[in-house]
Amino acid sequence: MRALTVLGIETSCDETAAAVVRGAAPGPGEILSNAIFSQIEAHAPYGGVVPEIAARAHVELLDGILARALSEAGVGLGELDAIAATAGPGLIGGVMVGLMSAKALALAAEKPLIAVNHLEAHGLSARLSEGVAFPFLLLLASGGHCQLLGVEDVGRFKLYGTTIDDAAGEAFDKTAKLLGLGYPGGPKLEALAKTGNPRRYALPRPLLGREGADFSFSGLKTAVRQLTLEGAVDAADLAASFQAAVIDILIDRARAAMALMRRDEPEVRHFVVAGGVAANAAIRSALGALAAAEGLALKVPPPALCTDNAAMVAWAGIERAALGLFDALDAPARARWPLEGA
Ligand code: KG4
Ligand code: ZN
Repeated sequence: MRALTVLGIETSCDETAAAVVRGAAPGPGEILSNAIFSQIEAHAPYGGVVPEIAARAHVELLDGILARALSEAGVGLGELDAIAATAGPGLIGGVMVGLMSAKALALAAEKPLIAVNHLEAHGLSARLSEGVAFPFLLLLASGGHCQLLGVEDVGRFKLYGTTIDDAAGEAFDKTAKLLGLGYPGGPKLEALAKTGNPRRYALPRPLLGREGADFSFSGLKTAVRQLTLEGAVDAADLAASFQAAVIDILIDRARAAMALMRRDEPEVRHFVVAGGVAANAAIRSALGALAAAEGLALKVPPPALCTDNAAMVAWAGIERAALGLFDALDAPARARWPLEGA
């Protein structure tokens, strides 16, 4: 297949990002530039992302980030095959900023537009980094999502399990807040957990062993809150105990999804973990051991491609463009956009 060059734009949460990627399915692709500005500092005083602040910041930052992505890639608008932007799901104000910019560029440069599902972009990121072939089992664990999906093809997903309450990253962020670690909590909690005793506090493992592959994390957060209310806790031991519980939950549910997927796709060979939580080294190594025991190869994109970024959006654009899956200029921005059936 001919290599395509696509500009990707990501503005669905608190990263303003643009990237130029060149490549062809099944990957890997060549990241020519990957410009990103994290708004973490703007939101930190509020302990979480404030949608209105995020949307305004995207408006202010995106032009500069786009110019940087194109100049670092050494690629002019005229040399692009398509322009891709996250069209959802996400914070609607931010999604609109990125999608509108993509439409304006597409119109001005007479290039096709691709409205990318942010979850599909995470889902295909291991093809960008490692060229993983379909079908594969995907654990997508981020601040907003926690799902186990069979990825059969571009745009063809089967949902095996999803969270019935909080996402895994959200559980990390909320627990970190309870421990006074600040925002974003995932990386800080992981660092603290390294110094703690994971067996010190007995925390619940909701849905463990239950039929299906759904997740639940809110009971875990409640148990942590209860412990902090009851009196002095050792923050490092609690962080380690929390992380150990999350790992047990992820392993049990992923194992269940592997069994379910094998029934549908006996030739599945790869287990891909994506989303911000995949940046956690303890989680990665536990899931690697699970995959090995189940006869699957674990594939985790590098950390910069696990958390929100525009290279994965550009890559999803490449995969869709190769199949002729372009979008009209009236493609809507969507706050909600589930993957199954997308
Ligand atoms: O994919 P992402 O950048 O954004 C979306 O939510 O789409 O994921 C961010 C989430 C946050 O909840 C963050 O706390 C979590 O990923 N995260 C981590 C780690 N790094 C980021 N969770 C656990 N351990 C980490 N090292
Ligand atoms: Zn994301």
